[in-house]
Amino acid sequence: MTAVRERVAALGFVLALGPRTDRPRSVLVAAVAILQQATGVGLAVLLGLVVEVTANRSVSGVVVVSGCAALFVVLTQGTFIAGYFTRLRLREEAQQYVETRFIDVVGTTPTVELHERPAWRDRTAAVRAAREDIGQSFDTAMVLAGAVLLLVTSGVLLASIVPVLAVLPLFAVPALLATQRAENKRGEAVRDALSRTRLAGHLFSVATTAPTGREVRLFGLARELVRRHREQWDRGGRDVAVAEGRARVLVALAWLLFVLAYGAAMALIVRAALAGDATLGLIVAAIAVMAQISGQVQILLSWVFWVLEAVRGAGAYLDVVRQGEQEKREIVPDAPAAVPGRLTGGITIEGLGFRYEGRAEPSLRDVGVHLPAGATVALVGENGAGKSTLVKLLAGLYRPTGGRILVDGTDLARLEPDAWRGRVTAAFQDPARIELSVRDAVGIGDVANRADPDRVADAVRRAGGEAIVASLPDGLDTRLGRRSWDGTELSGGQWQTMANARAAMRREPLLRLLDEPTASLDAQAEERLFQRFAELDRLDGGVTILVTHRFTTARAADLIVVLADGRVAEVGDHDTLRRAGGVYAELFTLQARYFA
Ligand SMILES: Nc1ncnc2c1ncn2[C@@H]1O[C@H](COP(=O)(O)OP(=O)(O)OP(=O)(O)O)[C@@H](O)[C@H]1O
Ligand SMILES: [Mg+2]
Repeated sequence: MTAVRERVAALGFVLALGPRTDRPRSVLVAAVAILQQATGVGLAVLLGLVVEVTANRSVSGVVVVSGCAALFVVLTQGTFIAGYFTRLRLREEAQQYVETRFIDVVGTTPTVELHERPAWRDRTAAVRAAREDIGQSFDTAMVLAGAVLLLVTSGVLLASIVPVLAVLPLFAVPALLATQRAENKRGEAVRDALSRTRLAGHLFSVATTAPTGREVRLFGLARELVRRHREQWDRGGRDVAVAEGRARVLVALAWLLFVLAYGAAMALIVRAALAGDATLGLIVAAIAVMAQISGQVQILLSWVFWVLEAVRGAGAYLDVVRQGEQEKREIVPDAPAAVPGRLTGGITIEGLGFRYEGRAEPSLRDVGVHLPAGATVALVGENGAGKSTLVKLLAGLYRPTGGRILVDGTDLARLEPDAWRGRVTAAFQDPARIELSVRDAVGIGDVANRADPDRVADAVRRAGGEAIVASLPDGLDTRLGRRSWDGTELSGGQWQTMANARAAMRREPLLRLLDEPTASLDAQAEERLFQRFAELDRLDGGVTILVTHRFTTARAADLIVVLADGRVAEVGDHDTLRRAGGVYAELFTLQARYFA
């Protein structure tokens, strides 16, 4: 989409945002915004009329006009006050709408690939920063419309005295254009500085948040972080300020042009008054309008600026939504194949390759292996070998850049991603610390059954977490974590157990992915976990993939896949691989020497 079309679409979105969230409220908001702006001209006209009827010594005229003026003031002020809360509500509702939709799209893209793209990250960050502006944008646009209307009406009024003054509002146009340009330049500068301000933001949170607090103190990093933060921010911030400053010079010049035109207009009115070209009332009204007009144009310029900011935010929002939906269209097959109820053959990986966005080298190359139904497969290999990458590909979180994954013979790409993931369960290497009650943090592993107390208790038991739960102040109802509320903090291994319990919630998954689920567990907990997960396997006949660095654990698996540098180095069961005398045998002997 071209930049102009994108802007027009964003403006359309802003204008439709009010009616879309709440039609009656937005009508009221539009009316109030326009009325509020019209008050100035209305009062100027009424003032002129008062002068007129007073000069004519018409008592009834004075009564009527004063009555009208009072009514007008009551009406405009009344609607303004009455409309105030409506405006606030509409803003909140609109923001809520945008946020909900944003979560809907960003949180549900079939893969997490988009999150890897810097452009996507920047755009989503822009939306997060601008969501309040976007929420207010309909209101802001209506006030702006009112201000424009006011300017035009003022022009008409002035033209009724000196016709050439009809062009006065036009002198505000260069200032408006210059403002728009200034806003554009600022937007560009902000975008250009993003990589630096993003790093500054990261350093800021490293210096001030809990997870990094220990290292910051231990290594005495605060000063260093401040220095780097300043450096990044200074450069980014200064660039924006310089660009904006330059663009503002033109705004000032255009504004000067308006002021000159304004002075000339004033002179013309005075001349008309002296020549007796207009009634006294009209002259008074014109002067009252003139008195407001420069302030009006000033206001107009800042409102234009804010509307354009909101339009920019809305543009980013629309772009994010478009990209998210495009990914859905690309990935979700039109006529998806059915996900099997039960695996009969197993999962076959063929010539699988994968390269992360922005990486020169692939992380997986030509990986081929058959994982039989019902098997527990250990995935081993050194750090960076590609184990977690393979796990994520199997979960459909990334699309292969080559080769395919077959589920009982059906290409994974032909399955509906959500339907497939509905039958996969996983405990990731760096599990999310979800700060809910234990019951919820575990239960959401199977949202449909999360309220079932037996299922939750059973999942906790399978992950070997009964002792942890028993030790918590409110058992399953204990609130976990202290970042988002005053809950109970857990140890690293305890958090991991929660994640493992979450992974045990789903019954009969076709694929169970356990990426180093015991890395933080003690030996007993590890033993318990494997025994109980093994019970599950026998029950459901799916494939379990267990990533581990402990060869004593790998040893018990039906099949061991050794990955090295993104390739399958060896496949077989423990005895076969021991006998083969390859990498596995070597590493096993090494570990056995130290840990036996
Ligand atoms: N999100 C990412 N973006 C870019 N490169 C990545 C990303 N995640 C992993 N990589 C790269 O892919 C390669 C494989 O990483 P992966 O996480 O699969 O290794 P692993 O075998 O799980 O290692 P570990 O034992 O340390 O967990 C590494 O070279 C890593 O740098
Ligand atoms: Mg890993």
